[in-house]
This record gives sequence, structure tokens and C-alpha cells, in this order.
Amino acid sequence: MKKKLVGVLMCAAMTATMLAGCGNSSTPATTPAEPAPAAPAETQAAAPAETQAAQAEAPEASGDVVKVGFAQVGHESDWRAANTKNYQDTFSAANGYELSFVDCDNDHAVQIETVRGFIEQELDYICIAPIQSAGWDTVLQEAQDAGIPVLIVDRAVDADASLYTTALGCDMIAEGETAGNWLAEYLDGEDANILVIEGSVGASATLGRTEGFNNIVEQNSNWTVLDSQSGDFTQAGGQEVMESFIKSYSDFNVVVCQNDNEAYGAMDAMDAAGITYGVDGDVIIISFDATHDGLQYTLDGKITCNVECNPLQAGFAEGVVQKLEAGEAVDAWTLVEDEAFVAPGIDSDYAVTMSQEVLDGRAY
Ligand code: AHR
Repeated sequence: MKKKLVGVLMCAAMTATMLAGCGNSSTPATTPAEPAPAAPAETQAAAPAETQAAQAEAPEASGDVVKVGFAQVGHESDWRAANTKNYQDTFSAANGYELSFVDCDNDHAVQIETVRGFIEQELDYICIAPIQSAGWDTVLQEAQDAGIPVLIVDRAVDADASLYTTALGCDMIAEGETAGNWLAEYLDGEDANILVIEGSVGASATLGRTEGFNNIVEQNSNWTVLDSQSGDFTQAGGQEVMESFIKSYSDFNVVVCQNDNEAYGAMDAMDAAGITYGVDGDVIIISFDATHDGLQYTLDGKITCNVECNPLQAGFAEGVVQKLEAGEAVDAWTLVEDEAFVAPGIDSDYAVTMSQEVLDGRAY
């Protein structure tokens, strides 16, 4: 649908220090329809700023197709695959949408040009999962000048919040703090010599998890971060960084991997070097994402703590689109909540103890 948009109702002002994701084939989604998740129940709204009236009919009422562009980070992790599927299932033809999905392959320049392409195509809405948080002002201004609402999803941008319509995702700083708080509880005063395998450089998921974890490191004078290097959120990256760490350090007892795929690579590297890890080993592994396979390793006691980042976020984005289609105001920021999980036999104030039942209940 070419939007008959004069303006959109939006709550623009937000203090976006929150959380912290294009092959270039613009293809409508063909995934079979599945009921979209409900609109978010819990939101954190900042002060409403400007209110302009939207003049657009709901797709159900008009029978028009709503054209949505999604500039996705890439395909670096299991989390990303689940997130992509969730968007394709939600913004499906059967649900009244034409989704232009672009996998930007972790290339910021490609992602910027993808958004420009969406503007040129005069799509109705643009969703951006930013690869990196910096460098967005110009293209966001171009989208605003074209009157196209932009949803910043999953990760954050550094740009002023007045340049986009809404943002949604998990709180990456809180995820890092949860990991740190759990570690303090588990170690109960014991020393920690920590190696960190960070995510992609400049991504708000990396920046937020690092900041949050370091907040807790600062509170524990007997903890030392020996080294911190990017594994780019990939299994190969995690393995490469861990192999290099093993050559340089012999006295570590904690490895923090900023996503599950990096943890799989780190475990491969430790296996090859004869280093034991997990609840029965010498090294504590902390991971992020809590995808199905990551939680299987947690259930098996190999990953001791796994902090969730919920990839099922498309329903929140669709909730925003539906509100805008109906001419309603939207929140400036929507928090997607998550939790943490620990291996069986561990009780924690910060995490759920893993069981087969919990694993069986996972949707991703
Ligand atoms: O932005 C979310 C992060 O990006 C996930 O933790 C990671 O797996 C993905 O690549």
C-alpha cells in the first residue's frame, strides 16, 4: 500500500541509552502464516513529544497490503536465524503484509544503502536491526523527510530519538549485569580471572553486555578481566579468539561469551586443548542468548549460566505498525523482557535452574 500518510502519531522523545541488526535480495516473505504474537503488554514510554494525525486505514479494513522493509543484521548466529524467521512469519502475505527482507551480512554500508532503497521504493514502514550503533543520522533524516515511519529493532542506534518513530528490544546492559551478578553469587567471594569473547565491534548488544558486566566487575576487587576480544557473534570467531586466549593465558577460570555461537566455538577450542569446563570442570562458561542448543548445553552442565536475549520480537513491531495504521500513538520504547538460566543443581536469585521441562518449552 502506498501510504496516504500526512504524518504519524508518535511519542518521539526517549532517552535511548538502552540495549544495543542485509545479501541484497529484496523478496516478499513467502513463509506460511502463523498467528502473530500479541502486542507488548509492558512498555516503557518516554514523554510524548509530537502528535500528528495518521491518515491510513487498517490493512484488514482497507484490504490493502502493507509494505514493510526489514534491514536485518545478517545470519551470524542461531539467535539471528530465529529472529529472521519470526519477522518472516509475522509480516507474512497471509497477515496482509509484503515484507522486503534484506540480509545485510554484517556490513554497515550495505545496511545504510538497503534503507535508502526502501525509501526509494516508498515502502510504508522500515524496520532496522542496526549492525552498529553509530552512523545513522543522515539516512534516518532521509526516511523522516520521506514520511516513512522507522522502527529501530533488536539493537540501538546513537541517533537522536526524534529521527525515528519507535525502538524495541532487550536491555543489553541489564543482561550483562545479570551475568555479573550471577557470577558473584556463584563464586561467593572466590577470585575470578576472566576472559571475555565480545560480540561484533560497535554493536549495541556488544557495548551493552560489556558495560553491564563491567559494572559488576568493578564491585569485585578480586576479579580481573585478563582480556576481552571480539568473536563477531560467530562460532568460528569464538573458536579463533579462544584458541588465541589459550596460547596467552593459563590461569583463567571464567570465560564470558557474548552469544551462544561463540560459546560453541570456545568449547571446541577448550576441548582441543584438554581444558575442562562446566559444573564439573575448571572453567566457568557464561553465555548469552539462551537459544535451544545453548540451553541444551546449560542443561548438560557445560554452559553454567546462559542469559537470555529473546529473538521473538516481530509481534512487538507488528503491534506498532497496527497502531500507526489505526492512527494511534505508539510508545517511544518497548522493552522485550528476558531471563537467565543456570545448570541443574544451582540455585540462584538471578536465574532459573534448567530442567528438561524448561528446554521442552522453548519456542526457539
Ligand atoms: O543483537 C542480538 C545479538 O545479535 C545476539 O545476542 C547475537 O546472537 C546476535 O548476533
